[in-house]
Amino acid sequence: CGIVGYIGQGAVQNALVNGLEKLEYRGYDSAGIYVVDPAGNGHLFKEKGRIAALSEQVDFEIEASVGIGHTRWATHGVPSVDNAHPHQSANNRFTLVHNGVIENFRELKENYLSDVHLYGETDTEIVVNVIAAMAEKEGLGAKEALQKTLQVVKGSYAFAMIDAEDPSVLYAAKNKSPLLIGLGDDFNMVVSDAMAGVQLTNEYIEIHDGEIVMLTKNEVLIETLTGEVIERASYRATVDASDLEKGTYPYYMLKEIDEQPAVLRHIIQEYQGEDNQLEVDEALLAAMMEADRIHIVACGTSYHAGWIGKHYLETLAKIPTEVHIASEFSYNQPLLTGKPFFIFISQSGETADSRQVLVKVKELGYPALTITNVQGSTLSREADHTLLLYAGPEIAVASSKAYTAQMTVMAILADVLGRQKGHDSQWDLAHELGLVARAMDTVIDEKAQLEELAQAYFTDTRNAFYIGRGLDYYVAMEAALKLKEISYIQTEGFAAGELKHGTIALIEEGTPVLALVTQASNASHTRGNVEEVRSRGANTCVIAMEGLEQEGDQFILPHVHEELAPLVAVVPTQLLAYYATLQRGYDVDKPRNLAKSVTVE
Ligand code: G6P
Repeated sequence: CGIVGYIGQGAVQNALVNGLEKLEYRGYDSAGIYVVDPAGNGHLFKEKGRIAALSEQVDFEIEASVGIGHTRWATHGVPSVDNAHPHQSANNRFTLVHNGVIENFRELKENYLSDVHLYGETDTEIVVNVIAAMAEKEGLGAKEALQKTLQVVKGSYAFAMIDAEDPSVLYAAKNKSPLLIGLGDDFNMVVSDAMAGVQLTNEYIEIHDGEIVMLTKNEVLIETLTGEVIERASYRATVDASDLEKGTYPYYMLKEIDEQPAVLRHIIQEYQGEDNQLEVDEALLAAMMEADRIHIVACGTSYHAGWIGKHYLETLAKIPTEVHIASEFSYNQPLLTGKPFFIFISQSGETADSRQVLVKVKELGYPALTITNVQGSTLSREADHTLLLYAGPEIAVASSKAYTAQMTVMAILADVLGRQKGHDSQWDLAHELGLVARAMDTVIDEKAQLEELAQAYFTDTRNAFYIGRGLDYYVAMEAALKLKEISYIQTEGFAAGELKHGTIALIEEGTPVLALVTQASNASHTRGNVEEVRSRGANTCVIAMEGLEQEGDQFILPHVHEELAPLVAVVPTQLLAYYATLQRGYDVDKPRNLAKSVTVE
């Protein structure tokens, strides 16, 4: 999602629409702007789809002096004009745009809005109405009403707000979600990303969590929620051509980690049919219905996603499934059954080891599917079927969003196949995945905590371990690969129960051991393994899903369906790897000796 606000001289609508266009790379399912003319009349334009569609609706002739705009990726409520931002209070006095997730929206609704009719289904609409209710019931001005509301709002947010009763001020506030002030001659802006303002200014002021900002066309006032005035110097943002692609992110990997919730929502949309049911191509389904065994073939991170895929195919579609490292398959071909079906997982669709197996499989005459991020890639062209990841280009060598996309597409495929086979999975996968995207957002908001954890566990260690059981073990393998490939800490992902059969000999005073605990059925066993290594001096940390947490050093994951926990559990491990690498002074995006796509065997 993206935010642009503009106050002052100039073409307000142009500034908003152009800024939103620059933010489009962050996702788009709907967008809107709200402007106020000098006579104090508000004009609201919203449209589903891309910014170009919104632009057609906007009246550029209106002589406006202030405005706010937003581009949205659905988090809360389906993409629709009603749910698109800006949102207005029922009395039309306040208009608000919001990035982030309000956690206590239900409470807010119950406590403050029992008598207000809401149009959409977003947390933002609730907040803007709470501001209006505060102003009305307590006779407060806009600033006080906003301050008071923010004192009761829990969650992450970047807000920009206009009060129709005084359009000479543009309001903004943030907590955990990014927001900047852009400074101009006779105008000021708020933007969620400097990209949105580059055409008009390169001078910015940071806004910190818990601050609110009042902008007029010539003045900037920053205050804390309790009214203390903050002075802060501006800085110059330098944006070059390659930055244009990664926005203002210092590294592609961080951008790609952050994009994961949006990617997930995009995948759900792409795989939803007309009646909102998840579906895949009929011909693919028909081919898979015949299979008596599935072989997943992949390398690196894609191989790790394959293990989660195996779990889904076996539990949901009930087809026996094997997972193979591509370079091993070539020389140790397993004994094949009468009707094997092959799935190649490859972000790039170009990996030579995987292609080698595909060529052989085609020679043998077996059906094959490629799951890839790149349409028209070699593996996609040469297989009979393709499922796309819709993750957008992944530039960082260490894969992040492709991995979560691969697991998601595997879950969708297994779910659809299972239903086709008459196995009722008893869940609404699209809905559960929506909750996963939200949970990912929450984890991504905890960057500061993860940066500290990275400091505490990985600063000067030589080696490290991730452990887990079942699905958590598969995630441990990927978490370990992430850490080792960019931070160069020798890391192993281990089945928690197997550690004591040899590898525990490596545990010394201070060795970091991070345990993943997301599955109720084995949580206490993994906890037992954590104790085993702790009593031998290990520096332990548990990444636990809500409901399975206990006392001690830990990072808590929001609760999601257990089967989908890997999608959320991997996110903190990606961020830990990212921060550990920065702290150790290495290039996150371009680790030594590695390539994004390995086209030699
Ligand atoms: C390279 C990359 C890994 C990736 C692997 C498989 O080794 O460094 O990050 O997981 O290739 O790539 P693929 O494009 O086939 O998923």
